[in-house]
Amino acid sequence: MYNDNPTLENLGKTMDEAKQGEVFFKESKRPGEKHFYIESYGCQMNFSDSEIVASILGEAGFQATRNMEIADLILINTCSIREKAEDTVRKRLRVFDTVKQDRPGTLVGVLGCMAERLKSKFLEEERLVDLVVGPDAYRDLPNLVAGAEEGEKGVNVFLSREETYADISPLRLNSNGVTAFISIMRGCDNMCSFCVVPFTRGRERSRNAFSIIAEATDLYEKGFREVTLLGQNVDSYKWENPENGELVSFAKLLEMTALVSPDLRIRFSTSHPKDITDEVLYTMAKYENICKYIHLPVQSGNTRVLDLMNRTYTREWYEDKVRRIYEIMPDCAISSDIIAGFCTETEEEHQETLSMIEFANYSMSYMFFYSERPGTLAARKYEDDIPLEVKKRRLQEIIRLQTQISYKHNQNDIGKTFKVLIEGESKKSDQDWKGRNSQNKMMVFPKKGEHKPGDYVYVKALEGTSATLIGEMVEA
Ligand code: 5AD
Ligand code: SF4
Repeated sequence: MYNDNPTLENLGKTMDEAKQGEVFFKESKRPGEKHFYIESYGCQMNFSDSEIVASILGEAGFQATRNMEIADLILINTCSIREKAEDTVRKRLRVFDTVKQDRPGTLVGVLGCMAERLKSKFLEEERLVDLVVGPDAYRDLPNLVAGAEEGEKGVNVFLSREETYADISPLRLNSNGVTAFISIMRGCDNMCSFCVVPFTRGRERSRNAFSIIAEATDLYEKGFREVTLLGQNVDSYKWENPENGELVSFAKLLEMTALVSPDLRIRFSTSHPKDITDEVLYTMAKYENICKYIHLPVQSGNTRVLDLMNRTYTREWYEDKVRRIYEIMPDCAISSDIIAGFCTETEEEHQETLSMIEFANYSMSYMFFYSERPGTLAARKYEDDIPLEVKKRRLQEIIRLQTQISYKHNQNDIGKTFKVLIEGESKKSDQDWKGRNSQNKMMVFPKKGEHKPGDYVYVKALEGTSATLIGEMVEA
């Protein structure tokens, strides 16, 4: 889910392959044409935002290119979540500098969380950056670009209480034509002490439910078969219909999206354990097309550390939530985010994180060691006192255990048949399809009969690694 690598390899589409609403990338340019090139890092939300940026720039007359060498405008949508993410961005800026030196006049813009965090300091630190634009200011991009073309430096890091880009139809940048993200809310009001997001993405606000359903319907009509509803904390989605004052909760929104078509799969991310309700779980259970998969970050398995993290739940409370999920949906897969070596974490407390992985039987996890972020609650209140080697060793222990649990989780699926949505050819062989089952597990299986991406097929799992299930197509 988190990307520290450039996204270029999956950008390619020819004019014929590109569906309406997707970007067609230009490789060469004619005189007078203006092109933008964009790279995205970080969470799915950032990737989704890049599609909004592409739409706004498209309206302003820019065309997308995968070829940095012909771009008039090079953009990088950045992540601040850990120091490493920021280091990667700075490295890419060095590369953009060389392009800029070869082609004076090329504009370089920094978007997203790092832009928000560093604001105009960026222009001092990185002299070759022309634009710094925060996550709520993308509508201002054409204006800022016009100014930058005249030699002005453009900065807009205004954080809004209202902006949801509800009316903007995203240009699908990395599309496989089958799965797409829909942003349903922005910002975050939880104050997890380790996290920079409330500072970079501002206050939480929910998008108009009808515009979400319209986007899902439009995607379905264009041939897409899976949408992922995105937000920093989707379970606190709440939108009031101004016409009748009716409140749309996340459970209600899920149901409305599920009703777009039984053939449209619904996923969502991310859930905060404190906010996911029974109503959400029952809605998931009720609709076959709502995928039986919940990303439910635990962060730590120890109550004292959870308290320092300001997660607002205890280990026992989280365990109850996990039990409830398996009770209502025995076939549901749960995944997690885990932080190793948070401030003052003891060896025993670390052991409790390990035992939580076993208890929750996560199908997979995103695992990190703690990286102090300037300005966060933890940076202000607690000493980052766990030595780097200890953090790394604990992280390795977490990864090792999760890999074993993921392997067992997959072994447990062998012999079972799953409904799989074909996403495309497998990376390794054009003789194989790849697609996910409801539990979000990637399945790879030999092609058979007449099928294409976007079709549902039934696949029996025959073998599994910790990451993938290998199978064969069977009759339903
Ligand atoms: N250090 C390490 N990991 C972090 N995360 C968020 N902030 C930090 C940090 N300062 C992780 C959390 C979160 C995920 C998006 O990134 O696990 O859920
Ligand atoms: Fe990175 Fe968080 Fe910003 Fe996403 S919201 S780009 S994970 S800092």
